[in-house]
Amino acid sequence: MDHFDYRDGVLYGEDVPLTRIADEFGTPCYVYSRATLARHYRAYAEALGGHPHLICYAVKANSNLAVLGLLATMGAGFDIVSIGELERVLAAGGDPARVVFSGVAKQEAEMTRALEAGIKCFNVESRPELERLNAVAGRLGMQAPVSLRVNPDVDAGTHPYISTGLKDNKFGIPVDEALAAYELAATLPHLEVVGLDCHIGSQLTELSPFLDALDRLLVLLERLRERGIEIEHLDLGGGLGVPYQHEHPPAPFDYATALLERLSAWPGSERLTLLFEPGRSIAANAGVLLTRVEFLKPGETKNFAIVDAAMNDLIRPALYQAWQAILPVDTRHPRDAATYDVVGPVCETGDFLGKDRELAIASGDLLAVRSAGAYGFVMASNYNSRPRPAEVMVDGDRTHLVRRRERLEELWAGEALLPDNAQEAR
Ligand code: LLP
Repeated sequence: MDHFDYRDGVLYGEDVPLTRIADEFGTPCYVYSRATLARHYRAYAEALGGHPHLICYAVKANSNLAVLGLLATMGAGFDIVSIGELERVLAAGGDPARVVFSGVAKQEAEMTRALEAGIKCFNVESRPELERLNAVAGRLGMQAPVSLRVNPDVDAGTHPYISTGLKDNKFGIPVDEALAAYELAATLPHLEVVGLDCHIGSQLTELSPFLDALDRLLVLLERLRERGIEIEHLDLGGGLGVPYQHEHPPAPFDYATALLERLSAWPGSERLTLLFEPGRSIAANAGVLLTRVEFLKPGETKNFAIVDAAMNDLIRPALYQAWQAILPVDTRHPRDAATYDVVGPVCETGDFLGKDRELAIASGDLLAVRSAGAYGFVMASNYNSRPRPAEVMVDGDRTHLVRRRERLEELWAGEALLPDNAQEAR
């Protein structure tokens, strides 16, 4: 459920017509709904009921400070994959003690900063990373809390680019090598083993891969226990899918209930804190990308609707052939319907936001690309020297500009002419 609905033929974000946002802030523009973000976060928190838990929102999905700040005030933790994401969390008022740090190639400087900030846990993905972290913590005279990210070799049944829990993927420690890695971690003096984690992929629409992964982790937990290695928390990563088109992913409640049921058979599970790292399921349907039709270009075999947003603003359709709904914002004026490829101004044939869409539109009309709150702005680039779009948060009948549109001169602010050119230019 989200808060983008039609009222009298006009698409609203909460109580604000999207036409007003386009007038005020221009297009292309990302629009997020505060109530939807809050609702999706609460769905997780409430699903876990009294079981000890921490919801670590995956910052990579949408790292705008307003999004992070809102979730921080609701008690969220954060899953980060770079020091940049940690600094964002801190700038947004997030609690470092609720931060877990994932990623396959954490640098020494990143480890140092995260240790100094006092994060909850490092999700370690390889044996050399264990040794590097031990050395860094040793230099600081600290003990680093660690969880090993285990690759359980389950097929998440998702797009190959976003499947992460298979043997062939670069992520995590293979499940059959995990025991030895834990034994190594337990002997390293500057590490403290606190958790076990996995993340098997993104946009999962079935429960069974999650349950299969949990089963494999529980077997491992048992072995660890036999060796006297006690784990405080189990982190099952993110990955719960969202409805983009015809998908019917499980709701967080059903997901959590199934996991808790499976877990309850395990002695001592009530003391095991459960962590989740959801990104998409919190942010995707809490956002739209607002764009204006520049031209309609009818053709012999295809009609094109050329809009002012492009693959540099939203790359998911081009990169993953992702399908995201495209809706007209104002349906009050009569228009002829036709089938269009909705394409942007970027000079690439792959620059499309949607293909074969039945739309009743005219040039100048506004369109909203739905489900754009996750992996939208964060994956935007400046390709074709296009400034990145503005981001606006609606909150009831109010709007807040949470990131202004990038300015042209910012695009080359860090660049320099060659010295001889610079002299000539003077
Ligand atoms: N935890 C870890 C360690 C991850 O690698 C990810 C996502 C998440 C949590 C959050 O997963 P989510 O709940 O959002 O599925 N750009 C792609 C998605 C890449 C996901 C990468 N990892 C897309 O637009 O579909």
